Amino acid sequence: MTQLSAAQTSARTAQPAKSASSDGSKALYGGKGTRRITVRDIALAKERGEKWPMLTAYDAMTASVFDEAGIPVMLVGDSAGNCHLGYDTTVPVTLDEMVMLSAAVVRGTSRALIVGDLPFGSYQEGPVQALRSATRLVKEAGVGAVKLEGGERSHRQIELLVESGIPVMAHIGLTPQSVNTMGYRVQGRGEEAAQQLLRDAKAVQDAGAFAVVLELVPAELAAEVTRVLHIPTVGIGAGPETDAQVLVWTDMLGLTQGRVPRFVKQYADLRSVMTGAVKAFADEVVAGTFPQEEHSVH
Ligand code: KIV
Repeated sequence: MTQLSAAQTSARTAQPAKSASSDGSKALYGGKGTRRITVRDIALAKERGEKWPMLTAYDAMTASVFDEAGIPVMLVGDSAGNCHLGYDTTVPVTLDEMVMLSAAVVRGTSRALIVGDLPFGSYQEGPVQALRSATRLVKEAGVGAVKLEGGERSHRQIELLVESGIPVMAHIGLTPQSVNTMGYRVQGRGEEAAQQLLRDAKAVQDAGAFAVVLELVPAELAAEVTRVLHIPTVGIGAGPETDAQVLVWTDMLGLTQGRVPRFVKQYADLRSVMTGAVKAFADEVVAGTFPQEEHSVH
C-alpha cells in the first residue's frame, strides 16, 4: 500500500493526470482544452484504446481539486450515502440529496463530465419515473449524464432516457442498491453467472448506454466484457483490463474510517493528516498559543 505525506499529496494534485497533453492533442483530458468532456470524447477514447480514470465526488471543493488534477469523468455516486451523509448503505439516499450534491460538483468543476447517480427508488418503477428523476439531475443540477444500476432489468429505463437526450452510464455486477438481496459479494463467478453478466452488458449497450461500470467481478470476465463491447467498461474491483477505472475518493485518499475493500489502492492517508492538524489546533487553543500576533488585527 502506497501512502504519501501531505506535501507529496498536494504536489501530486498540482500535476495534471498522465493522459493530459500540454499540446492539446487528442488525449481525453487535453491540456489546452477548456470545454467539458462529452460522451462523444469518451467514445473516441475507446476507439483509440485510451484508458481513463474516474473518481467519485460529493462537494464543490473536492471536485475542483480533481478537476485541476485532470480527472476527466466524476461520478456523484450514491456512495455519498456511506461516504458523505453518514448512512450505513446507499439505500436511504434520496433524489433531493443527489440533486443538491450533483449541483455542487458541477459548480466546482469546468472540465470533467459530471455523472449523477439515480438513487434507489428513483427509477425502479419504470422508464417514466426514471425520466422524471433523470430530468431533475440534468435540469436542476446540470449533470452531463446519469448512472443507474441493473443490466437486462433496467434496459427499458436506459432506452427512454437515451431517446430523450440523456446519456446513461449503466452499472452491473455488484449493485449496492440491491444489498438487501445480493449482499456485497463477487458477481459473475461460475458459468451461469458469467453468462448473465455478459447478457447484462450487451443489454445496456443495446439500450444505448455510453459506458458501463463493472463492480466486483472476476478480472478475466471483465476483460472479456471489455473485448466484446464497443462502449467503454469502467472497472471497480474488476481487474486491470477495463477501459477505465473508478474509485470512491474517500477510500483512495484514506479518509474512510475502518476497513476498505481489498480492491482499493490507498494513495494517501488524509485521515491521519487531518486528525494531526485538528489535534494541533485544539492543543494550541487550549494552551493559549493560537492565535499569535500575526493572526490578530488591531
Ligand atoms: O455510488 C458509487 O460511488 C458507485 C461507484 C462505486 C461506481 O456506484
